[in-house]
Amino acid sequence: MSTVIEPLRWGNGELWILDQRKLPARVAWIRARRAETVARAIESLAVRGAPVIGIAAAYGVALEARRQPTPSRVRRAIERLARTRPTGRNLFYALDEMTRALEGRPGDLSRRLERKAREIHRRDARACLAMARHGVLLLAEGERVLTYCNTGALATGGIGTALGVIRFGHQRRKVSEVFACETRPVGQGARLTVWECAKLGIPVTLICDNMAAALMKAGRVDRVLVGADRIARNGDTSNKIGTLSLAVAARRFGVPFHVVAPLTTFDTSLLSGRAIRIEERDPAEVLRTVPGLHRLRGVQVWNPAFDVTPGAWITSFITDHGVLHPPFRF
Ligand code: MRU
Repeated sequence: MSTVIEPLRWGNGELWILDQRKLPARVAWIRARRAETVARAIESLAVRGAPVIGIAAAYGVALEARRQPTPSRVRRAIERLARTRPTGRNLFYALDEMTRALEGRPGDLSRRLERKAREIHRRDARACLAMARHGVLLLAEGERVLTYCNTGALATGGIGTALGVIRFGHQRRKVSEVFACETRPVGQGARLTVWECAKLGIPVTLICDNMAAALMKAGRVDRVLVGADRIARNGDTSNKIGTLSLAVAARRFGVPFHVVAPLTTFDTSLLSGRAIRIEERDPAEVLRTVPGLHRLRGVQVWNPAFDVTPGAWITSFITDHGVLHPPFRF
């Protein structure tokens, strides 16, 4: 099995998006030649994970500049992409970079924006390596690590955030086993993390989300490593819904709990997590997990995509600039 995992491929003025909704059953690609195709791929979770959402959006802007190289059309594409998913910081970071490139000196707009998108992609790949290098130093030999959602190559421009640390850890015999939570309702853990671990030869044990506390209580988890979508100045961290329950259990059972994220995920304009806008998604995502449920009348569904873990409950933040603690002032 090949160990190369690429959620995006750029070439000949086209963006190829690995359709993550189809994994692990099928490897299928979406061809994007317009920003609108990229925006829909982000909304539908064909491409997901905070860092790679930003990278995909940057390429979406570059695609639009190829089709219609006028600042007003490109600006409209940026606005459309900004409306896709509100919580992750990286999307807005990348779109701000593209806006700055758009406003730069005159010249070939489309080339300039393509160059910028590629640069954002490369920078994230480098950030992933830096996080893995810093993170692996915290691990002792043979640790059993619990992780949530998918934070690997599928979610970034490189080897991943939390899963990148795990990958380095496994190569250096510091990670002996990974527990991947299913991550309801869409199953990023069961479908994507398990797939990545299997491809990389990392021993992985899949658990349902409601088994994590029992596993920690049984002393079978040495450390929790998760990613992030947006981190406020005081360390409050939004991540996939369910992360908060893991943090509660980790605190109760004395298991170190780390967030792994590049600086592009930090939003120091926010004093606390109270100001983070949490995306609410289509109830159908929850209803379709139980066959026949959608036919019942009067069933209400609450489907937030993320929750916020208090910064005070997070042991440390493993970033591309080292292991940090709040308050963050950059
Ligand atoms: O809804 P998703 O799949 O985009 O949510 C992804 C997560 O919450 C990840 O943990 C986060 O984006 C970090 S990915 C490196």
